[in-house]
Amino acid sequence: MMRIDDIKNICVVGAGNMGHQISLHCAIMGFNTFCTDVSKKVLAKADAFVDKYLSGRVEKGKLTTQQAAAARSRIRFMPSMEDAAKDADYIIEAVLEVLDLKRKIFADLDRIAPPHAILATNSSAIVSSKIADATGRPDKVINLHFFNPALVMKLVEVVQGPHVSEETVQVSMELCERLKKISVHVKKEVKGFLLNRILLSMFKEAFWLLDMDVASIEDIDKACVYGAGHPMGPFTLNDLTGIDLQYIMDLETFRETGNVADLPSPSLVERYVKGCYGKKTGRGWYDYS
Ligand code: CAA
Repeated sequence: MMRIDDIKNICVVGAGNMGHQISLHCAIMGFNTFCTDVSKKVLAKADAFVDKYLSGRVEKGKLTTQQAAAARSRIRFMPSMEDAAKDADYIIEAVLEVLDLKRKIFADLDRIAPPHAILATNSSAIVSSKIADATGRPDKVINLHFFNPALVMKLVEVVQGPHVSEETVQVSMELCERLKKISVHVKKEVKGFLLNRILLSMFKEAFWLLDMDVASIEDIDKACVYGAGHPMGPFTLNDLTGIDLQYIMDLETFRETGNVADLPSPSLVERYVKGCYGKKTGRGWYDYS
């Protein structure tokens, strides 16, 4: 039986925005963390982020020099998934939302990782039951869903598909506790899990108000910040989470329902086709250049 104390080494597959922040958080919280990516450029960017972030934390007095140095020594970025996963006790995949890619990665991880290792996906769109049968350990394949920015947002959704064992859920929730995150147990694999269902309905309303020219982007954001106390308005938040991801999710919903109301909003499509994906491309609903 696996226990939380057995988790010493965490592997994160994917060093993009979510992957490198999850990795760094694990390292700060005391785990040996091995983060891998197929792109050397992405790995180099992630590595540079770690230095910048940790020195910023020291300057702000949030970490001591020793704590920052210890976190730095616990995190490694590496191109080989074989090296990153071979001694892992818990693996978190955070690659693109492409089912075939995830299934291939999980099949490889199943071959590489020790038999006791739990294989989690950070996917917000793909439930683990679509991936689990690519491995020989479906009971240990689970959704562990972090929120953006993962270093800051406390919530993690632990989503239990029908194939997932109680032990895997238990250890995953205990891991969240060790990471000083607040976990919620999502007992069924519903699309969008818990929070994204709520956020997506808010985005949809905001896009509709804009498409109908009821109010400007700025005013819709202002309304949510100053009227409802949200930390940021829906358009600012959508720029953070990514217009590309929103487009893919909306299209997926439309394919499932066939309901034209589920199609991506015209204003969203306009930005998507121009490659304006939000903060990460320098332009989205707002201009960051
Ligand atoms: N990476 C790491 N740390 C960050 C950060 C980032 N991108 N942005 C802000 N921070 C940190 C800052 O360093 C600061 O830390 P300390 O207080 O410890 O010094 C703290 O967050 C606050 O930052 P700021 O004062 O600069 O800015 P703020 O008060 O406006 O907070 C925010 C920024 C935390 C992002 C806040 O606006 C917020 O909570 N926004 C809502 C975010 C949200 O809803 N996320 C969920 C998205 S949905 C999702 O992720 C699901 C999915 O599947 C796509």
